[in-house]
Amino acid sequence: MTENYKIVRTLGHGSFGKVFLVKDSTGREFALKNVSLFEQTKYALNEFQVMKTLNHPQIIKLYDFYPSSTAFNFVMEYAVNGTLCDLIQKYTKNEGVYRLRTVSLLNYFCDIVHGVRYLHSKNIIHRDLKPANILIDKNWRFKLCDFGVSKIIENFPQQHTSIGTLTYMSPEVYLHRPYDKSCDIWSLGLILYEMAFFKHLFNRDEKVRIINYTISFKCPIIKWESRCYDPRFQELLEIMVQRTPNKRASADFICKHNLLYFLFHEHELEAKKFIEENAANRRKSKIF
Ligand SMILES: Nc1ncnc2c1ncn2[C@@H]1O[C@H](COP(=O)(O)OP(=O)(O)O)[C@@H](O)[C@H]1O
Ligand SMILES: [Mg+2]
Repeated sequence: MTENYKIVRTLGHGSFGKVFLVKDSTGREFALKNVSLFEQTKYALNEFQVMKTLNHPQIIKLYDFYPSSTAFNFVMEYAVNGTLCDLIQKYTKNEGVYRLRTVSLLNYFCDIVHGVRYLHSKNIIHRDLKPANILIDKNWRFKLCDFGVSKIIENFPQQHTSIGTLTYMSPEVYLHRPYDKSCDIWSLGLILYEMAFFKHLFNRDEKVRIINYTISFKCPIIKWESRCYDPRFQELLEIMVQRTPNKRASADFICKHNLLYFLFHEHELEAKKFIEENAANRRKSKIF
């Protein structure tokens, strides 16, 4: 790989890359994502183009990027607590016994929406939001990763390319209809439900019905109280899980929902401080 980093173990792999836990010569740990130069160049370069513009505590930090003879390498901050997908899987095994406390669910979800709000403010659509692309750091703060299929929308806010992961894909993306940032909001709704109930909001048959526009669709009514959650979660879910894209709330609006508002302000202050501090380090780095 490279003489600068020593591989400790594999952390995970997705459709584009393999990710290793590595150590530098001082023993500092990083996550190193290795994307094949031969098969995935387009996605790797796209990911780098997107990541180098990002500076936010809810986005995984990129420290270095370099090509080797066979791959592109991303040296990133290491999220020691794995992914939201790992967390959900752990809880699924004990379904009915454990649940996330309301305060944890709100804090985690607030982090995720905050990351999406930041991306959208920079005119970037993530396009593959799902639990496997949400990382958890040592302080249990949630961060978005995997920008391989993200899109910087410049002059044309409406996109057509059908890309992402089927389970979390919005109906319009699935049907190759024009779409915009609001496709990420659909995925956010599905993620919120999954964090509360450890299962998918829609099964296969329901997905087939959702993409059939001749059948009416309404966001399902969930018994939030059955898991001891505030009934206002229903309202939060409904502003995201709308089949008509322009009926979905923006990430900014979701942050200001009365369940998240107070947390959001706290997170926003932290983010401002983080961005300022990090900007100075970025100026010294050759990759930005
Ligand atoms: N910074 C990181 N810290 C810890 N684990 C990570 C990190 N980045 C990625 N991973 C792990 O590797 C997996 C694949 O990484 P990802 O960037 O999503 O690649 P792909 O584009 O192939 O899906 C993630 O789902 C996660 O399990
Ligand atoms: Mg991934």
